[in-house]
Amino acid sequence: MVSAANASASNAQALENPESQTGARIDIAQVSHQFAQLPVLSDVSLQVQPGEFVALLGPSGCGKSTLLRLVAGLEPPRSGHITQDGQPITRPDPSRIVVFQDPTLFPWRTVRDNVALGLQARKVPKAQHARVDEALALVGLSEFADSYPHQLSGGMAQRAALARALVNEPQLLILDEPLGKLDSLTRLTMQAELLKLWQRAGFSVLLVTHDVEEALFLANRVVVFSDRPARTVAELAVDLPYPRHRTQPRFVELRQQALRHLGLGDAT
Ligand SMILES: Nc1ncnc2c1ncn2[C@@H]1O[C@H](COP(=O)(O)OP(=O)(O)OP(=O)(O)O)[C@@H](O)[C@H]1O
Ligand SMILES: [Mg+2]
Repeated sequence: MVSAANASASNAQALENPESQTGARIDIAQVSHQFAQLPVLSDVSLQVQPGEFVALLGPSGCGKSTLLRLVAGLEPPRSGHITQDGQPITRPDPSRIVVFQDPTLFPWRTVRDNVALGLQARKVPKAQHARVDEALALVGLSEFADSYPHQLSGGMAQRAALARALVNEPQLLILDEPLGKLDSLTRLTMQAELLKLWQRAGFSVLLVTHDVEEALFLANRVVVFSDRPARTVAELAVDLPYPRHRTQPRFVELRQQALRHLGLGDAT
């Protein structure tokens, strides 16, 4: 495994944010997993520090979503351990929120009511639902609070899904290709917005993306997986301050390193 020298420096950067104390510490220790006879994860060890943003890159079908499902507590790993702040993860918990590629909003509910779902499910008193409007404002959807999902663009629907996650004040945001279906312009805007949300709220993030630049634009650390069964082949500390620029020489260098680890060294 290649380990870049500056991992601790970038963690320190994340931890300088005074509000980052709300971020979960995740420890994935020697996790292996398989479905029937199909090995999917092979001895994966990975830590996410409180408030840290970690991106996962790897070939399609290697096991990234499976790892996210294990961290979310949707199923237990066949072997190894996953803990949050030292406690074993055994089931889903509102402190860990997953956002998938498809926003999955309920079409018969307004945007506001979709965002309020988690609070309603947890029977949070209506008086505290001001958080819903705050979350909508954070993602720039205040004007559309009373609209229905079919009245939103793809990017707006994805922002509504993010607001629905944020309203629960997660300690860990688990993002599985959340921007994968957006057009490239909306995607760039959403990346900048996601960055601002993370910097403001201080939660930890585990992001799966196929987009190397997206990973480098957002994350403190980028972990590259092998083909299935996924094992860690490289860990790159993104030792660049925010906001980052895709034309910075160091950014370009890291992009080439990541592509090389993905076996795409000649694609640059
Ligand atoms: N519930 C399941 N039952 C059986 N096999 C599964 C299940 N979920 C995933 N798999 C298999 O596990 C492997 C890894 O799937 P996974 O969805 O984790 O890949 P991925 O890295 O997220 O891929 P992609 O980048 O295309 O989303 C695949 O071969 C898939 O067919
Ligand atoms: Mg996947």
